[in-house]
Parts: sequence; structure tokens; C-alpha cells
Amino acid sequence: MSQQNLESLDVERLREDFPILERELDGKPLVYLDNAATTQTADPVVDAMSDYYRRYNANVHRGIHHLSQEASIAYEEAHDRVAEFVGASGGREEMIFTKNTTESENLVAYAWGMRELGPGDEVVLTEMEHHASLVTWQQIAERTGADCTYIQIDETGRLDMDHARECITDDTAMVSAVHVSNTLGTVNPVSELVDIAHDHDALAFIDGAQAVPNRPVDVEAIDADFYAFSGHKMAGPTGIGCLYGKAHLLEEMEPYLYGGGMIRKVTFEESTWGDVPWKFEPGTPPIAEAVGLHAAVDYLEEIGMDRIRDHEEELAEYAYERLAAEGDIEIYGPEPGPDRSGLVGFNLESVHAHDLASIMNDHAVAIRAGDHCTQPLHDRLGVAASARASFYLYNTREEVDALVDAIDSARQLFA
Ligand SMILES: Cc1ncc(COP(=O)(O)O)c(C=O)c1O
Repeated sequence: MSQQNLESLDVERLREDFPILERELDGKPLVYLDNAATTQTADPVVDAMSDYYRRYNANVHRGIHHLSQEASIAYEEAHDRVAEFVGASGGREEMIFTKNTTESENLVAYAWGMRELGPGDEVVLTEMEHHASLVTWQQIAERTGADCTYIQIDETGRLDMDHARECITDDTAMVSAVHVSNTLGTVNPVSELVDIAHDHDALAFIDGAQAVPNRPVDVEAIDADFYAFSGHKMAGPTGIGCLYGKAHLLEEMEPYLYGGGMIRKVTFEESTWGDVPWKFEPGTPPIAEAVGLHAAVDYLEEIGMDRIRDHEEELAEYAYERLAAEGDIEIYGPEPGPDRSGLVGFNLESVHAHDLASIMNDHAVAIRAGDHCTQPLHDRLGVAASARASFYLYNTREEVDALVDAIDSARQLFA
């Protein structure tokens, strides 16, 4: 990545779009490094949602009155825009709005898995899966008699691709893999995994919760069958998630939730379903959130996803180097490089991650501590918890320095 790229991202200017970053806590400036959990919401997103509520708030798909038509058009166009953002050429026919990545996982696991899986089938996951995918597929496997197997990680925190080739066989029905690990920061070779899956006539579901917000993603170049992500991790609102699916698969799949808004014809005896994506979006959907997500996508694209990725990776590399230089900090995941994203998971030798996060909080530095919804991965790493600093487009080197200073205070307190 080039220094020129980094300089061309005008972080001070961008920070003006996130007034929350001006907050002080007990007189100390807020240092927000919990972006892998939720990013801050950009002003243009808040403005777009407030404009919706102030000017054209109405239910969608239902009314012939003017406001309902405006809301319906905005809601539908948001699908097209988000599809375009991730390279889905089928537009709304390939983009379902859900509540979050977790619901997107559940949708496929129930709608596809409950019908297609059975004894003898295998779902192949990775050891670095988020619970959103791991627990969901585990449950569906238990109910259908299928088995789950896990691709191992190596000592650098990367996937062992030889083991991947052993795990994915003709018995494999689904490969579900995380694009970017929320704990290790590893960027997985998802195209390669998808190719291996397809070689065995299996489908591939990619969890892009930590990828879409932070780097250019093209679902068609990856050739994923399904791809999921969340609005609240990409400068957008909470309450909306996305599920990309290849048009022919979504067409064939039965709905997973039922009710109004998703039907074509209902009689006392039976019902038939509307078109994709509406057949997967029953009830009143997240309309304001869709408007906000549309604005978020516009906002990110204007900045440039490659520049956002470069900026975050530069910060993560700086953080990695500073933490590694301390001598008593164990850092998880690969060394900085093209397959390492903008987050750093670590443990300070003498201080439990929860105590560390609490002391950091006294310094107004917001990091996350715990198992990050990857308990089996933490078992594999031999620790119960880890601390995680995760960066976004508005973070600065000075904030990395504040992180290191706060760690120093924790060390002294526990010395
Ligand atoms: C890799 C990964 N997958 C899935 C999720 C779940 O996202 P959500 O809570 O928005 O459903 C997260 C959230 O942290 C994540 O990091």
C-alpha cells in the first residue's frame, strides 16, 4: 500500500462526518477502536434516514398513495444499489434484506439446509467461524442428520488449504467460510475455497461481515453462491443485514419466514409466493434502514473501498508493530500483509483481556474483550478471551498511540 494513498484519505475531514468522535469521556477524547463490532454511523446516513421519517415515512408494497409509492421505490432501489456495490449483476433479484448477517446465515441454513441436507451430507466450516455461522449450521446439521467438519488453521492463523482439500469431498453439500476473521484478522482465500466446493458440486456460503465494510468485494468474481453482511459494520444503520444469493438458487428456495408482503395468492387451502427478494422479506421490512444503507454505500464508494482498505491496513500494521515491540503481548493472526485486515487481536501477558478493556475504558479507549463469538477458535488458541482493537476509515495513528499508552497504564497498574 502506498503512503500516497494513505495521505489521499483525508481523515480529519472524514471525521467531521462522525460527530460522535468529538465526544469526550471524563475529559478525555474518545478513541473508538471497536469497529469490528459496530462502526459509527456517517452523517449522510443519519440525514437520509431522518429525511425518510420527516418526508415520506409510509409502509411499502401496500399502498397506492403517494408516500407509500415513494417509500416503496426507495426501499426497492436500495436493493439494487447494495447489489451493485458488491458486484451482483442481478440487482434486487439477488439481494435480500434481513436483520443482520446472523439472520442471513439462518435464512440459508433453514430455507436451503432443512430441505437439502440429510444423513451422509457434510457441511464444511472453518475453525475461525463466527458463532453466527458455526452455531447455525451445527443446529441444522443436528436436525437433518448431516455432519459438520472444520478446516483447521495453521500456526500463523491462516487456513490450512491442504486440510481444506481433504475436508471438502463429494459428500460435502455446503462450505460455509468467513471471508475475514473477526478475531484473527485473516483474509481467507475465499475464491479458492469456492472453487474447491464447486469441484465437488457443493455450494459455498461466505460470511462477509468483516469484509464488505473494509475492502472491495465482488461476489461474482468470488463466485459465491451466498454472501452475507451487516449494515451496522459499514457506517450504516443497525437493524439491516444483507444476503446475496445466485438468482437461480433463490428462485428454487422455499421461504423461511411466512406472512404478509411475501405472497402471490392466498386461499384458505394454500398460498403461493411472490418474487425474489420479497418472498424472503415477510412483514414490514426495515425501510428507514434500507434508505440509510443506500446512503452508506454511496458514502463508502465515494471515498473508495481500496483507499479504505489501505488506510485500515496501514493502521493495523502500525498497531501490530507497536504492540509486538512491547515484548509481553501475544498477537493473534498473520503478520501484516495482503492477507491481514484492519484489526488486531491480542493478549497482554499479565492482565486478563476484560481487565485490560476496563482500564482502557478509563482512558476513553474503546476496545472489545471476550471471545468475540468465536469460542471454539479461542479454545484452539488456548485462551479463554482476547482483546481486539479494530480500525475504520476515521481512525488515526495518534489513536493507535493512545491504545499503546493505555495498555502501558494497565501494565503498570497490575505490576
Ligand atoms: C465474521 C462475523 N460474522 C458474523 C457476525 C454477526 O454479525 P451480526 O451481529 O450483524 O449478525 C459478525 C459480527 O461481529 C462477524 O464479525
